[in-house]
Amino acid sequence: MTNNKESQIVSLLRPYRDLLSSNKSFMQKRHFGQPSAQTHPHLVSQGEVTPGINKEEYDSTKTCLVNKIVHASGNKSENHIVILPSASTVYMTYDIPYRFRQNTEFLYLSGFQEPDSALVIHTTSEGYKSVLFVPRRDPHKELWDGPRSGDKGALELTGVAEAYNTDELESYLYNYCKSYKDYIVWYDLNQPVLKHSHENVIQDFLKQEGKMAIVKPTGHIQDLRVVKSPAEVQLMKHTTEVASQAFVDVMKFSRPDIKESHLYAKMDYECRIRDAEILAYPPVIAGGNRANIIHYINNNQIVHDGEMVLMDAGCEYHGYTSDITRTWPVSGKFTPAQRKLYLSVLAIQQVCISMCTQEFSLSEIYQAMVNEIALQLVLLKLIPRSVVDDRSKLLRAVQKFCPHHVGHYLGMDVHDTSLVSKTIKLQPNMIITIEPGIYIKADDETVPPEYRGIGIRIEDNILITETKPVVLTKSCPKHPDEIEQIMSQASR
Ligand code: GLY
Ligand code: MN
Ligand code: MN
Repeated sequence: MTNNKESQIVSLLRPYRDLLSSNKSFMQKRHFGQPSAQTHPHLVSQGEVTPGINKEEYDSTKTCLVNKIVHASGNKSENHIVILPSASTVYMTYDIPYRFRQNTEFLYLSGFQEPDSALVIHTTSEGYKSVLFVPRRDPHKELWDGPRSGDKGALELTGVAEAYNTDELESYLYNYCKSYKDYIVWYDLNQPVLKHSHENVIQDFLKQEGKMAIVKPTGHIQDLRVVKSPAEVQLMKHTTEVASQAFVDVMKFSRPDIKESHLYAKMDYECRIRDAEILAYPPVIAGGNRANIIHYINNNQIVHDGEMVLMDAGCEYHGYTSDITRTWPVSGKFTPAQRKLYLSVLAIQQVCISMCTQEFSLSEIYQAMVNEIALQLVLLKLIPRSVVDDRSKLLRAVQKFCPHHVGHYLGMDVHDTSLVSKTIKLQPNMIITIEPGIYIKADDETVPPEYRGIGIRIEDNILITETKPVVLTKSCPKHPDEIEQIMSQASR
């Protein structure tokens, strides 16, 4: 080969060489599979693992869990091992993933956002150790799916004591059985999230002689999750404010003959433009009689003049959810019947909100909601007065007009901490929803015609404090006069 040819080839190959070396530096620099203070300073501050929550908080949450399970086991054993798998990617169709959503309990304790991982926390003679198992770095996979943190990245990012690759979980658990005896394994056997590790590694570990018992840890983790930390309260204030402001814009945008799908698009846009990552659940955007279908999510009809629209929507902001419902007339003006029914629901909701204190539980507030709905239905002459004197008749009459509960705990999940009983008293820094409704079907001939085909729900998010309840969604208009005033500033 002549010198000339050689230099031609070298110059031909230069772009590939440059590409390879830039790819190498890309891999070296961006070594996290999730936003970090280095790569996303607009989202994550120094010292934080996830936006708003720092390493110290993740540490103290793990300490609280260890203390809780040791206490819950009545000190039967001093050896405990918690195995908490992450979620895996779920596919919509071949090769096409749904947006990844991390297992909530795993995320709450680790802050780690990648799939196919596991958190192991076990007691030691010095206290406890937390170990994270994460997907091994893989240039080919990272080329398609983006960077992975790898064991080193996970260690740096989350502040766990040790981190390994997920394929090392087996040997870690094998060594654990060699070193410890009479241990309690805290693992959710009934709902294995990480299928591959469950079938190939964890099940074998669970069969080992050294274990004393296998106990589900989820309830204990949810007992911690249900009471929010100050940092979590801040995030909840933010997510509820974002959704509240978005509702205002959707109200202003609505008009007669608006498509439900356009209200959906507007809500999605107004939440994302305020930096929420996604809507927290498929919203219910139900015009007219469709508001009586509690889980109506088709959102493909047109809301006509004279009809109300019920919108139940919320967003997820840095992993924390809001959950709001408002019902308003798309024309911007309530009819007399709509206003009357609406004010009844509002009166019921106000009584329920006033009970959001340490004195009551969600179940007790539900009982109050049932009584208040009955009272309002009597006042509206929708049920006879005599129903109120018979508890079972009253309950049946109320459930015909409102088949759902008064509310639920709210946090990282919409129906948050579902294992926590609704019969326990509320505590400061719990966040709940209060969401009474009255639903009257279009074909209900027992009801005067002007009320038929109207479904109204009003849902707010409430922070429990030492004193009065704080309505986190207070900037979302609720009184009919306020709604009419907002809608008169239409942006349509
Ligand atoms: N958006 C679901 C609920 O209100 O419970
Ligand atoms: Mn809701
Ligand atoms: Mn709700």
